[in-house]
Amino acid sequence: MTTTVQTLGRKQIDRALRDALARVYLAAYGDAVLPESVLDAENFAEATLRRHSRRAGFRLVVSVTAGEVSGYGYGFTGKRGQFWSDWLAGAVPADIVETWVGDHFELVDMVVDPAYRGLGIGGLLHDHLVDGLPQERALLATVPGQGAAPHLYEGRGWQVVAADIDGAKALYGLDLRQDRH
Ligand SMILES: CC(C)(COP(=O)(O)OP(=O)(O)OC[C@H]1O[C@@H](n2cnc3c(N)ncnc32)[C@H](O)[C@@H]1OP(=O)(O)O)[C@@H](O)C(=O)NCCC(=O)NCCS
Repeated sequence: MTTTVQTLGRKQIDRALRDALARVYLAAYGDAVLPESVLDAENFAEATLRRHSRRAGFRLVVSVTAGEVSGYGYGFTGKRGQFWSDWLAGAVPADIVETWVGDHFELVDMVVDPAYRGLGIGGLLHDHLVDGLPQERALLATVPGQGAAPHLYEGRGWQVVAADIDGAKALYGLDLRQDRH
C-alpha cells in the first residue's frame, strides 16, 4: 500500500478534509456506536481544530493510503498566554519552563487510523510535521513506556523533559536546532 503525506495550512482545510479527520479521530479515540464519541469527534474537527488552525505557525500533515485519509498530525507555535503553555508553567520546574516553554512548536496530536497502524505511517507523518520547522524546540505530552507513541518519538530524538505532568503523561521535548548548521 502506498502512502503519500501532504503538509497543509489553515486555508487548505475544506469540508471533505474536516470530515475525514473527524472519521480518523473517531476510529482512534472513540466508539462509532456511542453518540458522545461521535459528538467528540465532530467537536474536534469543527471547534478544536478550527481554533488551533488560527494560531501562528499552524501546520497540518495528512496521510492518504489506498485513496483514503489514514492519519494526521498537527501543531502550532506555542506561546505564553495560551492555555497549555500557561498550564505547563505551573506544572513543571522553573528551569524547564525557562528553557522549553514559549515560542516552541506544540505538537498537539498525531493519529493513525487503527486499520492502518504498524505500517510506518506514524513515522512518516512525524517526519513531515517536524521537517524544516522554524522554532528552536518542540514539545508534546504523551504516556511514556512501551506503547507505539513513546517508541515513535523516542526513536526520533524526543526526550522526556518532565515526568508525571498530567496523570500518566510526560512532557517530551525535541531540540530542533540539532540538525541545523
Ligand atoms: C502513535 C501512532 C500515531 C503510531 O502510528 P503507526 O502508523 O502505527 O506508527 P508506525 O508504524 O510509523 O510506527 C512507529 C514506531 O513505533 C513502533 N510501534 C508501532 N506500533 C507499536 C506498538 N504497538 N508498540 C510499540 N512500538 C510500536 C514501530 O515499530 C515504529 O518503530 P520504528 O520507528 O523504530 O520502526 C498510533 O499508534 C496512534 O494513532 N495512536 C493513538 C494516538 C496517539 O496516542 N498519538 C500520540 C499522541 S501524542
